[in-house]
Amino acid sequence: MNLRTSRVAAAATAAFVGLAVALGSGLATPAAAEDPATLSGIILGVGANETQRIVTWYSSADTAQKVQLAPTAALVNGDFPASAATFAAIGGANIATSGGFNRHATLTGLQEQTTYSYRVGTDGNWSPAYSFKTQSFEGDYDFLFYGDPQIGSSGDVAKDQAGWQDTLDVSLAANPNAELLVSGGDQVETANTEAQWTAFLAPDKLRQYPWAATIGNHDVGGKAYEQHLFTPNTDRSAPLYANGQPASNTSGGDYWYIYKDVLFIDLNSNSYTTTSGGGGDPAHIAYVTDVINQHGAEAKWTVLVYHHSIYSPADHAKDGDNKVRRVDFPTTFSNLGVDVVLQGHDHSYSRSYEIKNGQKANPDEQPGAADVFPGPGGVIYVTGNSASGSKYYDITAPDNSGTSGAGNGADPLNPSNYWYNSVQNQEHVRSYVKVQVRSDKLVVQNVRSGTCAAPNAAVELGRVAWCNNTTQDQPVGSIVDKVTIHPYNGTGQALQVSVPTPAPGEFGWTIDGYNGLVDLGTAEDHNGDYFQASGRINPIVVADSRRSRAPWAISASVSDFKDADKTFSGSYLGWTPRVLQDGAGAEASPAVPSGYDDQGQGLSVSRGLGFAEQGHPKGNARLGADLELKIPGDVAKGGYRATLTITALSS
Ligand SMILES: [Fe+2]
Repeated sequence: MNLRTSRVAAAATAAFVGLAVALGSGLATPAAAEDPATLSGIILGVGANETQRIVTWYSSADTAQKVQLAPTAALVNGDFPASAATFAAIGGANIATSGGFNRHATLTGLQEQTTYSYRVGTDGNWSPAYSFKTQSFEGDYDFLFYGDPQIGSSGDVAKDQAGWQDTLDVSLAANPNAELLVSGGDQVETANTEAQWTAFLAPDKLRQYPWAATIGNHDVGGKAYEQHLFTPNTDRSAPLYANGQPASNTSGGDYWYIYKDVLFIDLNSNSYTTTSGGGGDPAHIAYVTDVINQHGAEAKWTVLVYHHSIYSPADHAKDGDNKVRRVDFPTTFSNLGVDVVLQGHDHSYSRSYEIKNGQKANPDEQPGAADVFPGPGGVIYVTGNSASGSKYYDITAPDNSGTSGAGNGADPLNPSNYWYNSVQNQEHVRSYVKVQVRSDKLVVQNVRSGTCAAPNAAVELGRVAWCNNTTQDQPVGSIVDKVTIHPYNGTGQALQVSVPTPAPGEFGWTIDGYNGLVDLGTAEDHNGDYFQASGRINPIVVADSRRSRAPWAISASVSDFKDADKTFSGSYLGWTPRVLQDGAGAEASPAVPSGYDDQGQGLSVSRGLGFAEQGHPKGNARLGADLELKIPGDVAKGGYRATLTITALSS
């Protein structure tokens, strides 16, 4: 028997945790029984970090389902390769008004700089394939923030959907490398109206870029929000969840995730009053405090997201609950070093001054300043306008209630604005907020994604009194506001160093020493029933010096044994893999019996020799295997040879 060596190029094939196990057992899958499930509402969601995504969908039938995932480069004519990873879905029955069932699965172990394809369902009944890409897991990136799509709010779902679709198209055409789509809440007008969810989920961009859901007051009165939008690290305990509805018909919870250098904390601001069973603002403050204490050091920036803007400029600026939060939240946010707060609910754009402990931090900060330099405790609060055009609120006037805490008094520097806002804007056109995350600054922009022209449901339906923007003077892509936030670096000197991409290291394997013929000797006759022989493969040395500590797996398959025109099947060869020398996280794959014993395929199909999981140590390992050959007693006499082809999978 000859051993043939090969070396794999990095990223030639998929590598995921558990892949080696799948290779060892998943190749004889019987044809799946027909699955009648109809799959809908597929959406790509943010995961716990940049190496994860969560896919959520609806199914008409309560069947076992999964997500299949592979690098797009590994697909052949659109077919997923046998090496595709699968992630089992979980979920349950939807509430009666939704009908059907919900499913979600968390995709883990994603590699950077990779375009992936995925589909949901089960063997024989897959959804269409969609794709997304990962980028560098370090350094600068951009994300986009969308205020209240609130599909159905205009009274015309189709018009609202058209505006929503257009904002996604326009914003991602301008920012194709944006890495997250962050929600300001109120995805739909009526919590459990599935026709509105169908319209919200219609744009394919929501299957290509991860949506970071935020629950709004219009989403909260039912289960559809969390049936459609599963989120990571979510705390649904009553203080962060209860809002006066029975738990069987509410959604939400607080959640957090870290995406590259930003810690995001997303709050369910609907869980507000203790009289409704929630924990009130103190529960959210405790949550934010705990998450920042535990994870703040893992990120350079902290961004909070919740629906009910506390420094908004329009219809909701003087709401009672708004004023209470405006007293309850800001000092904690200042003390914890929050950088930016992204909010919705008031369907108008605003950017606050630096707010410290609930007051304007620097009385001299000028309206509309292009650069702000928050000292310790300075926080910028942003409110997003409507991303869909379904509804706009007009700017309201300050009153004489003062310029601190819950007051809604005028800005002394700009008396038509509220005291807390540097910029307020309402043009009755769609817009989105672009945030550029850089090592030494955050750049926040409000960008027009539409004009007065259709699609602009509220304008088309006469819901607003005026609209003056034109494609000539305020075209799509033009900027309403732009501010660069320069962080406070303490009283010492801030130092920074960039470490370049290191030599990637290498993953490879070789035969250990001289690659001699593996001679199984002369098979021993067992009473004419079968012949048996044994031996050992030439050991394989695996070397992995990659910084990524990405998983790897070595597998092999054997050809048929041949002597001139005589042959017998390679399935009669089995093995017991062993780790001969520990290193690189190597583990031995399961033993495979000779097909003579179990009528199986033995080593005639690809079988694992050894593998290591994500995060394994760097280093070298030696892998071996004891071979066992059992062949039927009627195989003709001869000197037979076969080739064991060894392959490696890694990313
Ligand atoms: Fe709202």
